[in-house]
Amino acid sequence: MIPPHKIDEIMNAARIDEVVGEFVNLKKSGSSMKGLSPWSDEKTPSFMVSPAKGIFKDFSSGKGGNVVTFLMEHEHFSYPEALRWLAQRYNIELEEEKPTPEMEEARSERESLYVINEFARDWFVNQMWEEEEGQTIALSYFKERGFNESIIKKFQLGYNPDSFQAFTDVAADKGYKDEYLFATGLVKQKNERKYDGYKGRVMFPIQNLSGRTIGFGGRTLQADKNIPKYINSPESSIYDKSSSLYGLYFAKGSIAKEDNCYLVEGYTDVLSFHQKHIENTVASSGTALTKEQVKLISRYTQNVTLVYDGDKAGIKASLRGIDLILEQGMHVKVIMLPDGHDPDSFSKEHDRIEVKEYLEEHARDFIAFKADLLMEEAKGDPIKTNDVIHAMVESIALIPDTILRSIYISECSRLMHVGEKALISELNKSLRKNHKQNNRFRGNENVPEAPIIENDFQQEQKFAEDTIEHQERDLLRLMINYHDKEFTMELPSDEVPEPEKYNVLEFILDEIEGDEIVFETEKFKQLFQEIGARYDEHGFNQNHFIQHSNEEMQRLFIDLMTFPYNLDNWERKEIYVDSEEKKLRRAVMEAIYAYKSKRVERMIKECQQMLKDAMELGGDVEEFLRKQIKLEEVKREINRVLGRTVLH
Ligand code: UTP
Ligand code: MN
Repeated sequence: MIPPHKIDEIMNAARIDEVVGEFVNLKKSGSSMKGLSPWSDEKTPSFMVSPAKGIFKDFSSGKGGNVVTFLMEHEHFSYPEALRWLAQRYNIELEEEKPTPEMEEARSERESLYVINEFARDWFVNQMWEEEEGQTIALSYFKERGFNESIIKKFQLGYNPDSFQAFTDVAADKGYKDEYLFATGLVKQKNERKYDGYKGRVMFPIQNLSGRTIGFGGRTLQADKNIPKYINSPESSIYDKSSSLYGLYFAKGSIAKEDNCYLVEGYTDVLSFHQKHIENTVASSGTALTKEQVKLISRYTQNVTLVYDGDKAGIKASLRGIDLILEQGMHVKVIMLPDGHDPDSFSKEHDRIEVKEYLEEHARDFIAFKADLLMEEAKGDPIKTNDVIHAMVESIALIPDTILRSIYISECSRLMHVGEKALISELNKSLRKNHKQNNRFRGNENVPEAPIIENDFQQEQKFAEDTIEHQERDLLRLMINYHDKEFTMELPSDEVPEPEKYNVLEFILDEIEGDEIVFETEKFKQLFQEIGARYDEHGFNQNHFIQHSNEEMQRLFIDLMTFPYNLDNWERKEIYVDSEEKKLRRAVMEAIYAYKSKRVERMIKECQQMLKDAMELGGDVEEFLRKQIKLEEVKREINRVLGRTVLH
C-alpha cells in the first residue's frame, strides 16, 4: 500500500510533460505541447499536453487524464504500478511494508513477471562479471567480439552458467512461483524436472519503453548447427513480440533528435551501432517487421532506414516490411552493406566516421532500390518485367500522400522506362482494389470506424446547439476554467448598490443553487454538486477532480477543461479565450440567463401538465398551483435581474 502522503508527494513531483515526453515526441505549441497520438494512426498531431494544468488530452482517441492515467493507458500499468514508476522516476522513496505472502499472492502476474525478469537480469549480469565461469566464457566472448565494457554494461548483458539448474535453484530460493518462472521461459520443466531455459547462453535483456525488462534473447556460445543460435522469451503478459523493438529504450531519444531510425536485424547489430554512437538504431530481432513496430517508430520519427547485409534473399523477404512502413505514410530508405557484411561486422572494421559516412552516402530511396532489385532479377524478360512494374505500383499505391505518390510514379517511370500514363492507370487500378478490400474488411470484421475528427463547422454547430445539456456543459466549463477569475458588476438590486467583484465559480454556484435549480444531465449534476459541496469547505481544488477516484468524473472534468476541439482549434480557441476573458462577465451572465430561463420555462410547462392531470384525475391541485406561481415569480426575477444585464 502506498500511503496518501506519498501519493501527494509523487503527484507534486511528477511533471506530465517530462513523463509523457518519454513515450511521445512532444513539441512546444503555445503554452502546451503537442504530438502524434500514441493510440491512433495519425499524420497530424492531435495529442496535447498542458504542463500548467498537469493533464493530457488525445483528441483522436478521446483519452485524457493526468500523469497517472497516462501511464495506466499507455504502459498498461495498474494504479500502484504507475505510482511506483513515478516514484522511481522522481527518486521518491516508498517505504512500503514488507509484502506478506498473501499480498505477494495478490500482486498481479505482470508485476511478478517483471520482478522475476529483473532479478534474473541482475543475476545474469553478476554471473558474468563476478564469477569465474562467466568471466572466462561470457565476458571474454563479448570482448573478443569487440564490445567494450560500457556498452556491455549499458545493455545489461549477462550470462546463464552452463549447468542444468543454476538459475532454477536461485529462483526457487527466492520463492518465485513455478507458474511465473515458466511464463518467463527462464525455467523449463520436463518429466517433473525443472531446468534452466538458457543454460550456457549469453543473455541479452529486452527492455520496454520505460526500461523494464520484458524478456531475453539468449545466444549459444557453441558452433553446433543443430542447436538454435538464439532462444527468445516466450510471449507473456508483459512481452508482446510484435510490438517491441530491441534497443528502442536506448534509441528513442536519438531517433527523435536525428529524425531517423536505423532498422537492423539482430541484437549484435544494435550493440555495434550504439557502440559507434549511432544510437538511433533498433532491431526487429529476426521476426518480420510488424505494423505495431512501425507505429512505435513513427512516434519518434517518420523516417526509417533499413540496413541490410548483402544477402539478396533476405532483402526480398523483407520487402513486405517496407510496404508496412509506406502504408504508415513514412519515408523509407535502404542501405546495402558491402558483400558479406552485416552492421555488426561492418562497424568492427571501420571507425565511427567511416561508418557514418557510408550510411549517409549509401542510403537510397526505396523506390530506386526496389526497382533495381527486381529489374535485375527480371533480366529483361518482358513478362517478368511486367510483374515488376505491377509490384512497384502496388507499393506506391500504399502511400497515403497523393503528392508523394505522383513523385514516385515519375521516378518509377524514369527508372523502368515505362510511360507515366501507363503507370498512373495501373496505380488507379491498385488504389481501387485497395479501397474495395478495405471496405470488405470493414464489413466482415465489423471494425469500428476510425474516429472522425470534426471540422470547425461541425464543432461550432455543436456548441451553438441550444439544448439543456449544452447549456449545463457551458456553465460547468465557465466555472472550471475561470474558477479563479473575477468580474465586476452592478446588480440592479437594492442590497448591493455599489459595483461588486464577483468570482466566476462562486457566482454561478450561487445563481444556480439560489434558485433551487438542479442540473438535469446526471453526470453534470453530480459534478456540479460535488464542486459546490467541496467549495464551501475547501475552496476549489482542481487536482481533486483531475485525480478523481471516479474515473468517469475524472474524464468528464478533463474534457471540460480541454474543449473537445482538435489541436488547431484549441490554439485558435486560446486566442478566443483571451477575449472571452475580457467578456467574462457577459459570458457568465448569458450562460446563466440562457440556462435559467430555459429551465424555468420547462418547469412551468411540466407544472402546468401536472396541474392539468391533477384537475382531471383529482389530486393536490393546490400544491401545483403554488408551485406554478412560484415559478412564474422566478421567471420574472430572472428576466428582471439577468435579462437586463444581458440584453442591455
Ligand atoms: P543473426 O543470425 O543475424 O544473428 O540473426 P546476429 O544477431 O547477427 O548474431 P551474431 O552476430 O551471429 O552473434 C538476426 C536476429 O535474428 C534472431 C535474433 O534476434 C538475431 O539477433 N534470431 C536468429 C533468432 O531469434 N533465433 C535464431 O536462432 C537466430
Ligand atoms: Mn551478426
